[in-house]
Amino acid sequence: MPTSSGTSRLRAKGRPSTDARKSSGSASFDGISHLYDRFAQLTQDDLARWVAEHLPPFSQEALDIGCGTGQFHDLLLARSEWLTGVDVSADQLQVARDRYRSSRVTYTLRRLDAGTLHQLGQYDLVFSSTALHHLGPADEVLRQVRCLVKPGGTLVVIDCIRPPQGILMARMGMFEWWRWLRCLHGAAKVLVRRRSWRDAALMFELRTHPTWRRLAAEALPLGKEEFDRVYTRRLPGARTYGLNSSTRGAVWRRSLQPEE
Ligand SMILES: C[S@@+](CC[C@H](N)C(=O)[O-])C[C@H]1O[C@@H](n2cnc3c(N)ncnc32)[C@H](O)[C@@H]1O
Repeated sequence: MPTSSGTSRLRAKGRPSTDARKSSGSASFDGISHLYDRFAQLTQDDLARWVAEHLPPFSQEALDIGCGTGQFHDLLLARSEWLTGVDVSADQLQVARDRYRSSRVTYTLRRLDAGTLHQLGQYDLVFSSTALHHLGPADEVLRQVRCLVKPGGTLVVIDCIRPPQGILMARMGMFEWWRWLRCLHGAAKVLVRRRSWRDAALMFELRTHPTWRRLAAEALPLGKEEFDRVYTRRLPGARTYGLNSSTRGAVWRRSLQPEE
């Protein structure tokens, strides 16, 4: 069993509270988790390669913030002894639980924001993929996320950014038109790559789903330059990476020296 703060602190709290269950409806992926899970499998190959390159070889305790259906949990479990996945969506967590039955992984239903992140404890590896922008303003969220990393530990983040074309189209009043085009383009790419009408239709169904649209409208992704600025300001020494047109990555190692 892990001895230190993070995992044991969450385990001690046991099953999710009724409040967490009640609150899991909004800002969560409830109701679209099976669509999302397939979407993630279809689109995250390149991200998985990047994650594999940047994870430390071994960590004792790892945390996945907004873990969803556990897309990266094969990788995380291969590189850490204990893994805790936290998410606000009961449906997303159920898909993850059904897939990863290892006693080394714990799934916790909880709504996170800048005010509650610190309650998660401290970890040798803190990971998050395309989730932090759902938690609130990046500056505040990152200030809390850095405290979750133990001295000498590592933070590996992938997060969404606002594609520059989207910003331009919004200025020109053509955002809706551009968004539909992107949905079609995403489906066409899957059709060409996977030669599957079914998967192409699924991509289109997810990206035009009312829940997905609502989540996209409520989320707060940074622009590319803003991402680099905020990450390097909050996490001095962090390296940022362009992963594709709508995501960026960041890797930060926390010094072993006490911070001022
Ligand atoms: C785009 S999905 C990413 C899931 C997973 N990390 C992946 O890479 O496939 C975003 C996830 O963040 C979760 N989420 C959104 N807001 C949250 C919050 N306030 N607290 C905890 N999880 C949240 C959603 O339920 C969803 O599973």
